[in-house]
Amino acid sequence: MKITRRSALKTSALAASALALRGSRLFSQAATSVDAHIAIVPGEAIGTISPEIYGHFIEHLGGVIYDGVWVGRDSKIANTGGIRQSFVDMMKSIKAPLLRWPGGCFADSYDWRDGLGPADKRPARAAFWGQTDSNEYGLHEFMHTCKATGAKPYLAANMRSLQARDFYNEIEYCNAPSGVLPTHSHSKPVADSFAAQRAANGDPEPFNVDLWGVGNESWGCGGNLVPEEYAAMFRRFTAWSPGYSSTPLRFVAVGPNGNDLDWTRRLFRSLYANAERRHLWGLSVHYYTSGSSKEFAAGDALKFSNDDYYDMLTRASIMERIVTGHFAAIQEASAGQSQPQVKLVVDEWGSWYSKSTQIGPEYNLSQQNTMRDALLAGITLDIFQRHADKVGAACVAQTINCLHSLMMAKDDQYFLTPTYDVFKMYMPHMGAQAVRAEFSASAITNPMANAPIPVGGNSYTGSLDPEKYLKGLSGSASVSPTNPKVLTLTVVNPHLDRPMAAEINAGGAAIASYTGTVLAAADVHAHNDFTERDAVKTVAAATASVSSGRVVHTFPPASVTSLQITLA
Ligand code: AHR
Repeated sequence: MKITRRSALKTSALAASALALRGSRLFSQAATSVDAHIAIVPGEAIGTISPEIYGHFIEHLGGVIYDGVWVGRDSKIANTGGIRQSFVDMMKSIKAPLLRWPGGCFADSYDWRDGLGPADKRPARAAFWGQTDSNEYGLHEFMHTCKATGAKPYLAANMRSLQARDFYNEIEYCNAPSGVLPTHSHSKPVADSFAAQRAANGDPEPFNVDLWGVGNESWGCGGNLVPEEYAAMFRRFTAWSPGYSSTPLRFVAVGPNGNDLDWTRRLFRSLYANAERRHLWGLSVHYYTSGSSKEFAAGDALKFSNDDYYDMLTRASIMERIVTGHFAAIQEASAGQSQPQVKLVVDEWGSWYSKSTQIGPEYNLSQQNTMRDALLAGITLDIFQRHADKVGAACVAQTINCLHSLMMAKDDQYFLTPTYDVFKMYMPHMGAQAVRAEFSASAITNPMANAPIPVGGNSYTGSLDPEKYLKGLSGSASVSPTNPKVLTLTVVNPHLDRPMAAEINAGGAAIASYTGTVLAAADVHAHNDFTERDAVKTVAAATASVSSGRVVHTFPPASVTSLQITLA
């Protein structure tokens, strides 16, 4: 059944009268009693918010690459060298820092050499996700996408079906400087043959890829390995790699599915069985929130009840215990070792529904994105920021035509989703200093908290303990890297029908003034689509007057807000 916005609105469990009431209260700042308190402590730094937590992920899956990112050089659709122009513009508008490719599960059956050279000579191959890949979009096209958008490349290397040597070669192909190089021996200087091949394929300058995923979901589609087997492979793949001083490498090891602490503990125990961990910088974490409380990858993106809504946001919030739990497990395993602290790289996160809102049969796993998903994005990004000392990078899965997307595109049409708005609103946090912010608000009881939480991805499904409470108001705060008197406070109010008036203070400092942007809609099912591209959009937040260095700001129901606060 095709789900239209109209039909979703009809099936909404919200009564019309409640909608009208919410509409009238959405953006007002009428004097009211205080429901919550937010105490920002500018002096208590957590860590610098890595801009890379705003990273992206694109995979050869359904319509993500072909038609989403890549329309082809001869396309009538506006493009930069074959890359959809509207995708480039969207990524630039949010200063997308990082782009992960080529998968996902696709990566572990992909040979990077298949995508080199003249496009009409490249082999078409059977690929993961039941597709045949023409290989028209290969390594160079990906690097051009990064260059056009301004994002840094994050490559996922094939560990299941290629050898360690192929991994070294890929690094060399990407990073070896061109021209004649010293041999550091008595033989005469020579040109690196991979650099020469890269130049012959159109790119003399090295791509300088520093961030490398060593495999993907090796407990599942990446090889069905146990942690000890993966640790041994990781050590072998990374024991030596071609190094170029301009590009110190950062390797990311495959981490758990969801909250599987056993994987992380055993992996690190096993890695330390031989303490040499060259360039191990991050541990990948994948956590998707299913649209259904009972089943993984189920539930409808547009049709959901109030109970489904609260339950899904509660389950999304367990990202916090995943982050703290796995970081603690790494620390525990690393005690007594003189190794740099390994960061978490949450390189797949987002909502995952059934296929009922796919934009077409060939757009596998594409799904609609409503205000509910915008709140999920806000909750997730705020968690990463509250743990800026632990999370080094993250990638939403996936940026276009897929699960939790910022953009949907089909032929010459496209629209941006409410999740895009959240990425845009949160931009001032990028590179800022995360500081402690205490939120006191009564929690919401999860109406569906009696069953285990379904977790998984394509590779695996399992379950976690049920979660009973959703924070009644949550968010994060940071201090501008250029002006210590400017704070950014982002806040999610998940209550469907309750505006939350919160008294905001900045500890010993006085608030002088503030401005803000808010994303809210009269119905949380609201979303954009190809015909109604602006059904959901941000507006300037109505502000309240500051009194004695504090302010009582009302956060509309089911909203995401970003405030820029100036201290006296
Ligand atoms: O993002 C879709 C899939 O989910 C990825 O390919 C895989 O890594 C995960 O299971």
